[in-house]
Amino acid sequence: MIEHLYSYDEIDSTNELAKRMKDILKNGDIIWALKQTSGHGKGDRIWYSPEGGLWFSIFFRPATFRDPNVYTKMMAVAVIRVLKKFKIDGIGIKWPNDIYHEKEKVGGILTEIIHHGDKREIVVGIGLNVNNDLPDDVPNATSLKKITGKEFDLSHLLRRIHSEALVLHNFVTKGQRNVITNLWRNSIVLKKGMKIKLLYPSGVQTGTVISVFSDSLVVERNGIKERVKPSEIDFL
Ligand code: BTN
Repeated sequence: MIEHLYSYDEIDSTNELAKRMKDILKNGDIIWALKQTSGHGKGDRIWYSPEGGLWFSIFFRPATFRDPNVYTKMMAVAVIRVLKKFKIDGIGIKWPNDIYHEKEKVGGILTEIIHHGDKREIVVGIGLNVNNDLPDDVPNATSLKKITGKEFDLSHLLRRIHSEALVLHNFVTKGQRNVITNLWRNSIVLKKGMKIKLLYPSGVQTGTVISVFSDSLVVERNGIKERVKPSEIDFL
């Protein structure tokens, strides 16, 4: 799948550069930066991206455009599989696509669709706290160094995640998206019956997970079932 790896010491954002380079990028090309000056996350939040973290984006030019969520799931599973192979216990996906170690966030994924004439392309940006310092104002963030006490080789980590993604991408090209969905489902740390925090504008409540879907989570609160969004949940 990989054609080119474009690597930089410092850029604004690997997702933004991928979007600007859309005319020359090939399916599976990677943009990697040691530092991002305007890294962003979901909901346009700032993504703190100093040196020491793994900040990269993969560009996809699907032959037929279908649900882009499969690419997000594929990359989340690829990261989890690699971290498990490094024997880091307690790693999983916090629904729908955050990489967590126990109750702390290690990484996130931001998938963006590029509308390009009558075509659609996909940029999947992955941010993983590896050897870097963590922002003071994000209390539940952690890094691989903090978890393990060890430093990681970023280039090696990127290549391992990429090869894992290659294996998974074969299922996407063969039309076996359900394989990715099942692997993703098995890596989700929120299981049926688990109690979670519901962050409603009216205040924090407690609910019980009933079922996990790609785009929503069904919880039960005071005997009533309701669908919640990713931004509305947290671990108890
Ligand atoms: C999240 O909000 O959890 C998603 C964070 C995604 C951050 C990565 S870092 C590489 C790529 N470039 C960006 O500007 N964002 C993504």
